[in-house]
Amino acid sequence: MFDFTGKVLALTGANGGISQAIASLFYGYGASLVLSDVNGEGLDQFAVDLDPSGTRVATIAHDVSRSDDADAMATLAEERFGSVDFLVNGAGLYLAQLVESMTDDQWRQSIAINLDGVFYTCRAMIPKLRDGGAIVNIASMAGHRGSFQHAHYAAAKGGVLVFSRSLMHELAPRGIRVNCISPGLIETPLIQPLLRSQGEALLRATPLKRFGRPEEVAGVAAFLCSEAAGFINGETIHVNGGLYVVS
Ligand SMILES: NC(=O)c1ccc[n+]([C@@H]2O[C@H](COP(=O)([O-])OP(=O)(O)OC[C@H]3O[C@@H](n4cnc5c(N)ncnc54)[C@H](O)[C@@H]3O)[C@@H](O)[C@H]2O)c1
Repeated sequence: MFDFTGKVLALTGANGGISQAIASLFYGYGASLVLSDVNGEGLDQFAVDLDPSGTRVATIAHDVSRSDDADAMATLAEERFGSVDFLVNGAGLYLAQLVESMTDDQWRQSIAINLDGVFYTCRAMIPKLRDGGAIVNIASMAGHRGSFQHAHYAAAKGGVLVFSRSLMHELAPRGIRVNCISPGLIETPLIQPLLRSQGEALLRATPLKRFGRPEEVAGVAAFLCSEAAGFINGETIHVNGGLYVVS
């Protein structure tokens, strides 16, 4: 549907379910990829399977909670491909914990990965982004509605939404658009504990009576990066099979 030949995508959390689907789709559309994940070994295997020659895919181990790792990813992008057209922040961590028993470390870890990581990676990549490019931050339905036992995660994702709208103002003069995707329940490793405990009830509550596929988020990311979305800026697209409206 889209031609990204000659374009470069930088993507975090790239060994995850949604980000792997994004990487595969953009690669299929002709883009070169700079992929990062805290799980560097798993990511390298994924990258070799995707592009055995390594011509169009570069990888780096990257803990998004560390700003120096973000800087290293940006340097790699510049060294391998000169500049970046699209940045998608896909890394995330979703652990259940009630607020009353949440430790300082649990709070900090969730904010560090889900919110600080988006800031660090955007800041590092902005000088490498080509004018006219696009940033897509993967937020969550939790960032709009809150999430039982995931207050730290929901607070971080809400932060991602307003961070993105604020960054939009800064990058608009360069024609760089900043948008978010807020997935609902997408079948990936991230939500397996939730599905084990509440899967049937959540399925019943979802109007489409199924969970989403990572490819259904990847398609939206491609759309938001494409010229078809050329006037969409500072927005959020929900991908949840109708759950957001009814629950
Ligand atoms: N799956 C869902 O239902 C759902 C719903 C709403 C939002 N999201 C968001 O979508 C994004 C992708 O999630 P997913 O469902 O593919 O999950 P996933 O668990 O399959 O992938 C997450 C990836 O992030 C990586 N990661 C974790 N900590 C990291 C760190 N410190 N530094 C770098 N990478 C790190 C993991 O190694 C993994 O590869 C996340 O931001 C998540 O919050 C997912």
